[in-house]
Amino acid sequence: MEIMTAETLNQNKKVQTGLTLWFTGLSGAGKSTISNILEKKLKEQGLKVEILDGDIVRTHLSKGLGFSKEDRDANIRRIGYVASLLSRNGVIVITAAISPYREIRDEVREMHENFVEIYAKCPLEVVEKRDVKGLYKKARAGEILQFTGISDPYEEPTSPEITVETNKGMPEESANQIINWLKENNYLDT
Ligand code: ADX
Repeated sequence: MEIMTAETLNQNKKVQTGLTLWFTGLSGAGKSTISNILEKKLKEQGLKVEILDGDIVRTHLSKGLGFSKEDRDANIRRIGYVASLLSRNGVIVITAAISPYREIRDEVREMHENFVEIYAKCPLEVVEKRDVKGLYKKARAGEILQFTGISDPYEEPTSPEITVETNKGMPEESANQIINWLKENNYLDT
């Protein structure tokens, strides 16, 4: 059995750079689906990955928060804070929340050393037609108020590092586009 000296330990240890992959986009644009594919691909490479998904975070860390601007901002700041803690400790963090306000996205960017904003871009007509969770129909009927894209704002990113046009390709292709960008920008080994 090889005795691990500090030297051999260092040789064997692959130091992982932490970073946050911050998705933004309308409900139903594919943020969670692409995040899950990405997580699988990155974990297969032996990397440490965590997903902070708005729908899930709202069941614990952000429990009790609604969808007013104030509550959304609080939700995003919490996600941003946890993402910054994890990513500065070498984890690849994937966040999947609508995060509709540009100013707050920029604020959480400032909390990070490595921050990659990914715009899951999909026309409203398309997400509304898909209506995976049936929420757009309810929003149009006035049963859900302040629904992003219908009765509440969504501010598109002006200069995201990556834009994936989710109405033009499969989620797998979007995930590959992101992996390729990360390789090209030296966040991942090729
Ligand atoms: S965010 O605006 O604070 O970033 P987040 O991503 O956590 O939102 O939650 C969005 C999810 O909550 C949607 O995918 C949808 O399932 C659900 N939801 C319920 N009410 C609303 C609403 N009024 N606007 C947007 N999403 C809503």
